[in-house]
Amino acid sequence: MIIKQLNIGIIGLGTVGTGVIETLEQKTKILKKKYNLNINILGISAKNKNKKRGFNIKKYNWYDNPLDIIEIPNINIIVELIGGSSGLALKIAKKTLTKKKHLITANKALLAVYGKQLSKTAKKNDVNICYEAAVAGAIPIINILENRMLSENITNICGILNGTCNYILSKMDEENLNFETALKNAQNEGFAESNPFDDISGNDSAYKLVILTNLIFSSNFKIKDVYIEGITRVSNIDLEMANKLGYKILLLGISNIKNKVIQLRVHPCLVSQSSLLAKVKNELNAVITDGDMSGKNFFIGKGAGKKPTAASIISDIISFDNSKKRKLSNTMEKEATFKKANMLERKGKFYLRMAVLDKPGVLADITSYFKKKKISISSMFQLENKISGYVQLIFVTHNILEKQLILTIKKIEKIDKVKTKVNLIRIENNL
Ligand SMILES: NC(=O)c1ccc[n+]([C@@H]2O[C@H](COP(=O)([O-])OP(=O)(O)OC[C@H]3O[C@@H](n4cnc5c(N)ncnc54)[C@H](OP(=O)(O)O)[C@@H]3O)[C@@H](O)[C@H]2O)c1
Repeated sequence: MIIKQLNIGIIGLGTVGTGVIETLEQKTKILKKKYNLNINILGISAKNKNKKRGFNIKKYNWYDNPLDIIEIPNINIIVELIGGSSGLALKIAKKTLTKKKHLITANKALLAVYGKQLSKTAKKNDVNICYEAAVAGAIPIINILENRMLSENITNICGILNGTCNYILSKMDEENLNFETALKNAQNEGFAESNPFDDISGNDSAYKLVILTNLIFSSNFKIKDVYIEGITRVSNIDLEMANKLGYKILLLGISNIKNKVIQLRVHPCLVSQSSLLAKVKNELNAVITDGDMSGKNFFIGKGAGKKPTAASIISDIISFDNSKKRKLSNTMEKEATFKKANMLERKGKFYLRMAVLDKPGVLADITSYFKKKKISISSMFQLENKISGYVQLIFVTHNILEKQLILTIKKIEKIDKVKTKVNLIRIENNL
C-alpha cells in the first residue's frame, strides 16, 4: 500500500501552532493507520527561536524568515498561525498561493478583510484555502455548511461566535463578577488575548460572521458592512433584569437574508431563557443555521483554545484533497449581489434602562415621549436600590421600528431628570 505523503510548513508556534505540532507528534501512528497518511513537517518558524515551547524545536528545520519555508520545493501545504489582518500573515498567504501551495489558516481577521483577493489568487493558481479553525474553533461549521449548501439554501445563520465574551457574560450573570474581574479571569484561563479589544468590541465575532455570510450567500461583504456593538455596556444590573424578565444576555452574530437584503449584525441580545442558545455557557460557541430543507440546526462546541483549534487545523490537513475545491474559492467567483439592510429599518422588541433623578413627574415625562411616538411598552419597572444616587428605570417595548425608538431615546436623554444615556439592548425572539 502506498502511504500518501503530505509535506507541510507551520508558521506561527503560539497557542495553536504548538497545539498542532504536539497533536501531530502524538497521532503519527494513528494517522498512518487510519488515513494511510504521513504528515511531514518540513519547516517551522516563529518570531523568537529561543522561546520555550511545548515541543522540541530541534526535531524540526527552523527558518528565521517564515517566507523561506514557502520556497521548500516539495512542500504541499503552508499552515499560517501568526494572526493579524495584514502584514506578515498577508505576505505569507499571497506567497503561498502564488507559489502554488495550499494554504491552511485560522486567521479570521485576514480572511474577513482579504478573503476575496486571496480566493482569486488561489483560483488563478489552482490551489485551495482551508479555514475550518477560523470560525467557532472546534465546531466543524465550515465543512457542515460546504456540504449542506449542496442540497439546500441556508437563509439565516446566528451564533455565539466569541468564547471570551460568552465567558465574561456567563461569569457576570452566574457569579455576579463585575466586567473587569470576569475579563481578567478570562485572560488567566487563556480564553482572552492580552489585548482583548477585538473580543469585547465585537470585532472578532464580526470577522467570523463575514466569513460565514460570504460562504453561504456567495457574497463579498466586509467588516464595514456589519453593525457592531461589543459587550462593554452590559452591566450586572442588565443581566439581573434580563433574568427577571425571563431572558439571558448573549453577544450574537446574526446574518439573515430576505428579498436579497442581508442583515449583518453583532450586538448583545436578550434571548429567551428557554432557547437552546441561552444554555450555552462560558467559553463555548454555538451556531444555529436555518435551511429551506432541514429547518433549524444547532451546533455547539469549544470556540477556542489550543486543542480545540488544533483539532480543526488537523482535520483540514487530513481531509486535504487536491481535487476538492473549497468554497472560499468557489463562491467568490460567482459573487452574488445583495443589499445590506439598514439597522434603523429593523423592527423588534427592545430592553431599555436609564438612570433618573428621584423626583415626581419624571416617569410621566418619559412615558409622554413613548406615547407621542406610539411606542407601546410591554413592561416597566423600577429597581428597588438606587445606583450612584439615581433610580434605575427599565422598560421593555413591543415591536417597534428601531429608527422610531432611537429618535425617541434622543428626546428622552435631553430630559434634565434623565441622568445617563439610555442603555438599549435588542430582544431576539424566535431563537
Ligand atoms: N488561540 C485560539 O484559541 C485561536 C482560536 C481560533 C483561531 N485562532 C487564530 O489562530 C492564529 C494564531 O493564534 P494563537 O492564539 O496561536 O496566537 P499566538 O499564541 O499569539 O501565536 C502567534 C505566533 O505567531 C508568531 N509570530 C508573531 N509575529 C511573528 C513574526 N513577525 N514573525 C514570525 N512569527 C511571528 C509568534 O512567535 P513567538 O512565539 O516567537 O512570539 C507565535 O508563535 C490567529 O490568527 C488567531 O486568530 C486562535
